[in-house]
Amino acid sequence: MNRRYRKTIIAGNWKMNKTASEAKAFLEELKAQVGRVKWCEVVVCVPFVNIPMARRVLKDCRIAVGAQNVHHEQSGAYTGEVSAEMLKDLGVKYVIIGHSERRQYFGETDALVNRKVHAALNAGLRPIVCVGESLEQREAGITNELVTMQVKAALAGVTVDKVRQIVFAYEPIWAIGTGKTATAEQANEICELIRATIRKIYGARIARAITIQYGGSMNAKNAFELLAQPDVDGGLIGGASLKVPDFTAIVNAANQE
Ligand code: 13P
Repeated sequence: MNRRYRKTIIAGNWKMNKTASEAKAFLEELKAQVGRVKWCEVVVCVPFVNIPMARRVLKDCRIAVGAQNVHHEQSGAYTGEVSAEMLKDLGVKYVIIGHSERRQYFGETDALVNRKVHAALNAGLRPIVCVGESLEQREAGITNELVTMQVKAALAGVTVDKVRQIVFAYEPIWAIGTGKTATAEQANEICELIRATIRKIYGARIARAITIQYGGSMNAKNAFELLAQPDVDGGLIGGASLKVPDFTAIVNAANQE
């Protein structure tokens, strides 16, 4: 992380976990632990149905609420979908876009990710755009090309004044939910590559200001080392974000003056 130039953001991605009552108890406990941290931003990306409750529980603390997906159109006949405007209206600040699980199980393409990024930005939400390679892609030696392509595609048509709202998350698919973490060097190398890609499009000042997270089996034990890397500006955390002590430990690792 490099707090001089950009915000450190620790975001929990709950995925499809926790009922509203489980979530309420969890958030009350989390708020007591990390509700006042100063040196990093803490976000909980909860299932849609838990958003109103999460906002109520967290309204007088510094923990922000995020969503895990958004539809790319403003409104209309899209049964079962949720628009960016609806999220914004509930006080949501961040939205995860293009998570590998959405790409893999719901057929989301780079082009769709780009449309969702525009929808989120237009509504005043901050997208957390996920990119990353599978094990086969890494072994085939195409990680750099793939990630560069994903970043460029996500940013297509995004103007200079809006791009600062975007957060990127490098999530190697082989590290998600597997207990296998990228080494700190591997994580930093790709986060640096993402920044270099942004630099080529928008220039050094903007690239320097963008938060780039690492995600993939980040936990209480490895967080400190990953976050000590100059280009790793936070984490997008799955499994370890579902337990208050583990998530708190990760936030504390990031909350360094
Ligand atoms: P895990 O932390 O469970 O590996 O999940 C990472 C992730 O997918 C966050 O979006």
